[in-house]
Amino acid sequence: AERDAFGEDEVELVTLLGRFVAAAVQNIRTYEAERATVEELRRLSALRADFVSLVSHELRSPMAAVIGSVRTLQTRWPELRPEQRDAFLAVIGDETSRLSDLVGDVLDTSRIEAGTFGYTFSDVDLAELLREATAAVTLGQDAVRLEVEIPPVLPRVRGDRDRLRQLVDNLLANAIKYSELGAPVELDASARNGTVRVRVRDFGPGIPLEDHGLIFEKFGRSGVADAKPGTGLGLFISRSFAEAHGGTLRVDSRPGAGATFTLTLPAEP
Ligand SMILES: Nc1ncnc2c1ncn2[C@@H]1O[C@H](COP(=O)(O)OP(=O)(O)O)[C@@H](O)[C@H]1O
Ligand SMILES: [Mg+2]
Repeated sequence: AERDAFGEDEVELVTLLGRFVAAAVQNIRTYEAERATVEELRRLSALRADFVSLVSHELRSPMAAVIGSVRTLQTRWPELRPEQRDAFLAVIGDETSRLSDLVGDVLDTSRIEAGTFGYTFSDVDLAELLREATAAVTLGQDAVRLEVEIPPVLPRVRGDRDRLRQLVDNLLANAIKYSELGAPVELDASARNGTVRVRVRDFGPGIPLEDHGLIFEKFGRSGVADAKPGTGLGLFISRSFAEAHGGTLRVDSRPGAGATFTLTLPAEP
């Protein structure tokens, strides 16, 4: 337990800067060993390398931060100040919820691929779903300005409400993640020709035309994404959900001009 715990200086830093430092400390410690392993496996196959880098970057660093925080609390509890204990508990909370989202995406992906993803269909009030999703985003962050245009009533949609919410949450999360601080993100919805259309627009770096297919593939990420955390699974899952509803998910984007993702779903007759 002592071996994994953070040292005194690290405890101070984590208290000040939270999970970023906790994750970074562990990253530095494991970097050399990890790089050798990842590079070795990368040579074996492209797909396998995708999974290894997902595991090493996206699963391993939050896991290390959680282990480090738990060990620190266990071994240094008496000497930690209350706000330091709180900081480590916050790290554990944030990182486990990130891990849980990640594991969820990996499981969804494997079920989609196996054709065993189960949907529970009912009549969905999409206007209400969109108001809930955008309200949660507005409350949950202040990095971007969310501008919402939802008509009071939209035609009903036959669908799996939880999966549709997950899809919309994914599009909003991407728009926020790839936006500059303080930039606007727009969501609008409208009914047209027997369909309901939801658009999520941002003014971030955009996506080069040649990557418009890639980003919907499993693990598919475009160049600009390198600096941002992520698995490249979100849009693969989102498009599968759209298609399972008889709908489509499309992108319209140019580098430097932001990105617009358009979800189209058939309305109930
Ligand atoms: N709003 C956006 N602006 C710019 N690039 C985007 C946007 N949404 C998605 N992308 C690109 O599409 C890729 C795939 O998206 P996604 O499947 O959600 O994976 P992740 O967000 O985990 O990287 C991203 O890595 C990024 O390159
Ligand atoms: Mg994403």
